[in-house]
Amino acid sequence: MIRSPFIVRILSTSAIAAAAFAGSVPAAIAAEFPTRPITLVVPFAAGGPTDIVARSLGASMSKDLGQTIVVENRLGAGGTIAAGSVAKAAPDGYTLLIHHNGMATAPALYPDLAYKPLNDFEYIGQVADVPMTLLGSKNFPPNTTAELVAYVTKNGEKVNLANAGPGAVSQLCGALFEQATKTKLIAIPYQGTAPALNALLGSQVDLLCDQTTTTLPHIAAKSVKLYGVTTPARIKSLPDAPTLQEGGLKGFDMKVWHGVYAPKGTPKEVTARITRALQAALKDPEVIARMDKLGVEIVPVDKQTPAGLQTWLQSESDKWQPLLKSIAAQ
Ligand code: MLT
Repeated sequence: MIRSPFIVRILSTSAIAAAAFAGSVPAAIAAEFPTRPITLVVPFAAGGPTDIVARSLGASMSKDLGQTIVVENRLGAGGTIAAGSVAKAAPDGYTLLIHHNGMATAPALYPDLAYKPLNDFEYIGQVADVPMTLLGSKNFPPNTTAELVAYVTKNGEKVNLANAGPGAVSQLCGALFEQATKTKLIAIPYQGTAPALNALLGSQVDLLCDQTTTTLPHIAAKSVKLYGVTTPARIKSLPDAPTLQEGGLKGFDMKVWHGVYAPKGTPKEVTARITRALQAALKDPEVIARMDKLGVEIVPVDKQTPAGLQTWLQSESDKWQPLLKSIAAQ
């Protein structure tokens, strides 16, 4: 049967409206997916690490899907506003969320969280892992991790630590640093690490823990001080940089991971199509080259799947939620 695009559009719109009411999208509509642009919601500021990964991924997925992916930054509350809004969006595949470790940590940080990360989403797949770097402003006195530890131990209550709010990985990294050094610094929250990094570059704050996605050029230009990387081993993109463990912070181990989600109830045919586009993008030589330049590691194909993301989110939730609750109780 040949359908005019106009009829398809009318059919799709009315059927999706009815399906949203019924909580599902009919198989025929799912098979045509996508027939219009898709919104990919980013929970942090434009120009930051999550945004950069999302835009690169979205541009490549658009080629595979034959429809534009529009990146929308929905800011606030450490990423929970964005995740909460996507949890409540129509389950039709046209609103997606890209998010990081915050999906696993938010329930421990927000007692009244309006969504359940493990129950309120369909999983598309994991995307990439990113190491973090602990940075100081160029005017901040300590030059090494050992000097930093001594400095914050003495002056902690005067030291500013920028982050993107509770639920942000910059905040989590800062909390692990405070725990490791037994200090309490002054947290300065921003709506993403793009503005936080600007504040560090302008010496308005002293410290920031942020992803290599945005920090590598500033480290290379020496416009910030690099204390160390947050992973247990040194990283390819900064081979000469010590780890924080080498600097004396025993057991310091943190990396950022990104996944893509759809609202709960999005039909399997639709999520499977989006997963296929995600996997195609992560094989795209342009995406691979860009991610490599930013120190972002694309995950293996078995993780670029709904099951790969679901298993990972569960294990990260099990790992971080008790730890964060115990840090909060200290
Ligand atoms: C961002 O994209 O701004 C960061 O991922 C925020 C954060 O630190 O979690």
